[in-house]
Amino acid sequence: MNKELKIFAVVAAFTIALYWGVEPFAHSQMHAHVDGNGLVYDGKADIAYTSKDKVKAKKAFWADVKTIAALKGDVTAGEAGFATCTGCHMDGAANMGGVTPPILDHAGALYDKNYLIALIKDPAMAMNTDHKFTGTRTHPMGSIKAMMTDNQQIADVVAYIKAKKAGEVTPKEAYVESCGRCHANRYGNSTQLGETPKFKYKKDELAYQIKVLEEQDLIKAYMGKIPPDLSIIYRARSHHFLETFIENPQSQLHGTAMPRVGLSENGMHKVMAYLEETGDPSKPARDALGPWVLLFFVIFTILAYLWKNSLWRDLH
Ligand code: HEC
Ligand code: HEC
Repeated sequence: MNKELKIFAVVAAFTIALYWGVEPFAHSQMHAHVDGNGLVYDGKADIAYTSKDKVKAKKAFWADVKTIAALKGDVTAGEAGFATCTGCHMDGAANMGGVTPPILDHAGALYDKNYLIALIKDPAMAMNTDHKFTGTRTHPMGSIKAMMTDNQQIADVVAYIKAKKAGEVTPKEAYVESCGRCHANRYGNSTQLGETPKFKYKKDELAYQIKVLEEQDLIKAYMGKIPPDLSIIYRARSHHFLETFIENPQSQLHGTAMPRVGLSENGMHKVMAYLEETGDPSKPARDALGPWVLLFFVIFTILAYLWKNSLWRDLH
């Protein structure tokens, strides 16, 4: 065998070893595969990412959630209880303990039933961020624990949300209501204060920017950092990573400040659709072009065929 071939063989062998051996191995070490819990909120995942001394409290909490989930909720009675929620969750609400409470117009469509029960019972436990709220530090929605102590009342409110706040939700609404209070999305033209309006005067634009910065300061004080812009996260991370991360951020980023967002299957589907849309804004244009390109090829093929026939006719 000549020298060049030997060198080539060595280089090829190394490349193959790197490509199929080292790179996937390093990847699996840095981004361990997480299976998720199939959007079932039963505490199984939480217990796996909890220190040993807390496991008992978590098990008891999720057992209570299951008990409440088994109760039959009364939609009419739940409407009155829901007024407790809208005291904080209203359009134009101010920042509260770090974030602005989202509107709950589509909460029944976005969130899982068991998750909602858990959230009303104990927001920090439901969001799996209870490790942050120790000592005197309370969760911004924590006062609900004292306002709604009756299991039947919790079941009623959740029945009401599931029946009356479960209308059709667009991908954008899903994103705004479940992620928008913390994450900006530049390509979606939104900040933590919602969609950025158009301004006629520079002065008004600057005043608005100051409000955004003030909101971000409060979020930073609450979360420890400003949550990343999610414009192109869909391209930076895999679909699977995003789904399992949203379902339980602790599973991928142990100790992270981001709370679990207890999305239902429909909610997850809609949020992902929005992230895909902002992550790849030219996709609709590309998709729309597809049929025209195909049509061009069909016409071209027909013309080429006719041309070929006419050439051969002259030759015979
Ligand atoms: C004292 C004010 C307050 C009350 C009362 C309140 N909430 Fe909240 N809620 C908040 C705040 C603040 C947040 C955002 C917390 C965060 O992001 O850490 C929040 C978050 C939520 C979320 C988003 C959860 C997620 O995983 O992203 C839902 C859903 C919700 N609340 C439902 C309710 C329901 C239902 C009620 C009534 C039973 C209620 N809230 C009562 C303040 C309140
Ligand atoms: C209460 C605030 C809050 C809400 C609500 C929230 N996040 Fe986050 N998110 C954070 C914070 C804080 C981080 C930074 C985490 C860190 O670095 O520890 C983060 C990080 C992320 C990351 C980056 C993970 C990585 O490192 O690659 C993604 C993706 C993400 N969030 C998606 C979402 C989506 C999607 C939603 C809505 C379904 C959402 N978040 C709702 C606070 C929030």
